[in-house]
Parts: sequence; C-alpha cells; structure tokens
Amino acid sequence: MNSFAATVDRMPGLRAEIAADPAAHRVLTGDRPTGPLHLGHLVGSIAERVRLQRSGVDVFVIVADYQVITDRETADRVGEHVHGAVLDLLAAGLDPDRTTIFTHSAVPALNQLMLPFLSLVTEAELHRNPTVKSELAASGRALSGLLLTYPVHQAADILFCKADLVPVGKDNLPHVELTRTIARRFAERYAPIFRVPEPMVTAAPEIPGLDGRKMSKSYGNAIALGMTADETAAVIRRTRTDPERRISFDPGTRPGVSGLLSTAALCTGRSPVEIAEQIGDGGAGLLKKITTEAVNTHLAAHRARRAELACEPGLVRSVLARGNAAANAVADTTLDEVRDAMGMRY
Ligand code: TRP
Repeated sequence: MNSFAATVDRMPGLRAEIAADPAAHRVLTGDRPTGPLHLGHLVGSIAERVRLQRSGVDVFVIVADYQVITDRETADRVGEHVHGAVLDLLAAGLDPDRTTIFTHSAVPALNQLMLPFLSLVTEAELHRNPTVKSELAASGRALSGLLLTYPVHQAADILFCKADLVPVGKDNLPHVELTRTIARRFAERYAPIFRVPEPMVTAAPEIPGLDGRKMSKSYGNAIALGMTADETAAVIRRTRTDPERRISFDPGTRPGVSGLLSTAALCTGRSPVEIAEQIGDGGAGLLKKITTEAVNTHLAAHRARRAELACEPGLVRSVLARGNAAANAVADTTLDEVRDAMGMRY
C-alpha cells in the first residue's frame, strides 16, 4: 500500500534517480479546473513541475476539464478557468517548448482507454476508494457513474503517455495506487504496455487556507494567483480571526489566526511562530496587514508575468492547440498498442 508516509520516505531516492538520468523519466500531473488556481497550487504543485521541467524531465500537464463534473452538476465557467490555469502555468515558468500542456476533453483516446481499464477493476474496489468516498460526502449528491469511476479515468490520464512519475497531493494517492494496479493487471492479462508509475509528494502537500482548513476554491479561503493586490487585501481582511490581541500560532484553537500566519510564513520562508512573536500584541489588524504584504510581495512577479501573457492575443489557444496535438499523437500510438495487445486491430 502506498501510504503517504511511505511515499514521502521514497522521495529522496526518487529525486536522486531523476537527477542521475532525467531523460529516462516522464512526469504526468494536472489540475481540475473548478476555479482559479491559488497560492496553494503554486507552492504545492506548480513550482515542483517547473523544477522537474528545469531538471530535464519530460513533463505532461493535464487540465482535467472532464473532472469538473465528477462531483458537481455543471462545468460552470470551465472555459474561463482553463484559460486562467494555462496563464498561471506559463507565468510560473512552464515552457510549452518543453512541457506538454493539454486538456482532457481534446484527447478522445483517453476515454477509449477507459473501457479496457474498467474491465480490470471491480465495483468493490471503486467503492472502497477513500477519495471517491470523501468527494461523494462533500458533494452532497448521489454517486454518479463518473465520480465512481474517477480513479479509472485518472489512470487513463496517467498511463496513456507512459508516465513513470505522478506528482499528486495526498488526497490523490489512492488514484495513483489504482493506476498502478491497472497497469499491472493489463500486463498480466494482455501485454506490458504501461509503466507502473510512482507517486511523488512533497512533505507538506496540504497548504492551509486563510481559515486554517486546506486551501481550496470550494472553501472560499484561497488566494487566487490571478487576483490583484487589492483583491488579495480584501479576502485577507474578510478572514475570520478572534478578539485575542496577542497573536500566537495554534492551529487547533485559533484556526483563522494560524491560517494567516501559515500563509505569511509560506510567502516569506519564515516560521509561523516567529511571525507571531514579531506581531506580539499587535492583534488581527497587524497580522492581516503583514500577511497581505507578504502575499502580494511573493506573488508580484508571477502576477506581472501573468498580466503580460494575458495581453498576448491567441497565446492560450495556441499553447493548448500544440499541447493537444502532441498529447493526441502519444495517446493514439498507445491506443494502437492496446488494440494490438487485445487483438483488436482490423
Ligand atoms: N485529480 C486531480 C485533482 O483533483 C487532477 C488530475 C487529473 C490529475 N488527472 C490527473 C493529477 C493525473 C495527477 C495525475 O486536482
């Protein structure tokens, strides 16, 4: 079982292997465009993709637009969120000459891989997936066929390009585990077409939001990368803190204050305790002022670059057209191999 702790333990070895021969590896990872990408994404995952790209690894980034409808009814404003996500990926330093950025919906072979993959898993395995269970509970809806089979289409996202490394948050580890199972079972039943991928995690994959819960678009506690400095100040001002003037870092009893301290810490490289001590009796007002400055300073370069890119007409469209063409070529080749392995080439 690929528990989080075991995955963290494997990271130094994995990093050494990557450094020794970057060209031998392919990374696939991505995001679900349910809303604007936020500070947690930048620090937790996008920065890592940029590091991997710079180290010479072949990186594929999927904008998983079909995944938007796993736990909600409509793909509300999906086009806008996809556009914004691509701007953020580029602004952070992903280079479309080196990294393949593509959308799930533009690669039909992904969905075709799903049929044989579905035959390799049982209904009980799907029902046991902890992420499916928690997303189902959070959605407040009946379990849709798409949510139930979410780990299987994610397996197709990963396996189609024969990625061997999959950077994910803790909550996506069960999907990578099932992906490994599918790759192995495909090999046993047909042919060893797919690599069995390894998950990659950072030791602190869950970035606290402004209220101390995980930073998430759906909790409204996130600082979107594309916000202006004033919008950032406004969300930070709205954060619920407490009347105690002495600022201390205590996530258990002071989630709001501690969420702000963690955010400021993340953006300055200092520890939350040290920042709390500096603020002392300054109260929530000073804490919010310091946090706002820390965030706006940390994001200034990203936002300036993002704004520049947003002015280039047709940029996002052309990056996706290129990425989608490249992903389709790889996916079609893999699908042909699958058809061969299954005796379905006519
Ligand atoms: N499920 C991921 C999320 O919730 C997004 C995603 C889709 C993904 N396909 C992937 C992540 C493949 C890693 C690998 O953000």
